Amino acid sequence: MEVESVMVTGANRGIGLEFVKQLVKLPKPPRIVFATYRNESTVQDLKDIQEKCKETQIVLIQMDVSKINDIESAKNIISQKVGDKGLNLLINNAGVAKYQGFPEITEENMLFHFTTNTVGPVMVLKVMLPLLQKSAAQKKSEKSVSRAAVINISSLMGSIAELTVAQPKEYLKVLGYRVSKTALNMAMRVAALTIKDQDVLVVNMCPGWVKTDMGSDQAMLEPSESISSMLNTFPNLNESHHGTFLDRNGKTILY
Ligand SMILES: NC(=O)c1ccc[n+]([C@@H]2O[C@H](COP(=O)([O-])OP(=O)(O)OC[C@H]3O[C@@H](n4cnc5c(N)ncnc54)[C@H](OP(=O)(O)O)[C@@H]3O)[C@@H](O)[C@H]2O)c1
Repeated sequence: MEVESVMVTGANRGIGLEFVKQLVKLPKPPRIVFATYRNESTVQDLKDIQEKCKETQIVLIQMDVSKINDIESAKNIISQKVGDKGLNLLINNAGVAKYQGFPEITEENMLFHFTTNTVGPVMVLKVMLPLLQKSAAQKKSEKSVSRAAVINISSLMGSIAELTVAQPKEYLKVLGYRVSKTALNMAMRVAALTIKDQDVLVVNMCPGWVKTDMGSDQAMLEPSESISSMLNTFPNLNESHHGTFLDRNGKTILY
């Protein structure tokens, strides 16, 4: 897979950080990676990669996905760096999860998840779309990650079809998170179908259950396994995957 420029949101830890680690080690690494974070005090790992990295320029950008001014400022920084080439790949990764089930669920918990996991990625895509369109205009191939794409890091937890009585009761205890990922999937499917003639590929993808602060050390996968699977899947994504929901290996997940 050849990608010229990549933006990773929530890149200071967990899945986002692992994406940056593995992107710069690709046989043909991106020329530039825009790695976003919220707090200056959390960027040491990104700075370590930045210092060691010779082939890829890593640009650190402070951006809270719930703050439209941050997203607009990020766009200006990226736009200046990429120029007419545009932004090649957006990985909408930043997200939050706080356990709360029904009926103890609070309005605050629901809105917390919706703001960060649904509204945030939609606003990031909305603002970055002109840059993705510039990248798409550079090539004549069908839709692909190498041309122009947004990958939304969603979750199997957002699948209504997958949630049956057969699932452990424990799985019901993340109501706000589940709803926000279901809404993310729908929002991105609407976006995908709306811009289907614009050559920007839109895919929702579940990374699996991953050992991060969110996934806990009980999770099944090391970040390295999950992200290498996703990066192996990216080159296979085409028009037929536009607006779909996939697991890390490219298998369809029912909405
Ligand atoms: N881990 C899993 O098992 C799993 C499974 C399915 C899906 N996912 C999804 O994968 C993505 C990454 O999860 P993770 O496991 O890496 O979680 P994590 O270790 O908790 O990291 C979350 C990242 O999102 C950032 N973030 C949170 N709120 C933000 C906001 N308002 N603006 C900007 N950045 C924000 C965090 O920044 P701070 O450091 O500043 O808080 C951090 O960089 C999420 O979308 C999650 O839903 C994870």
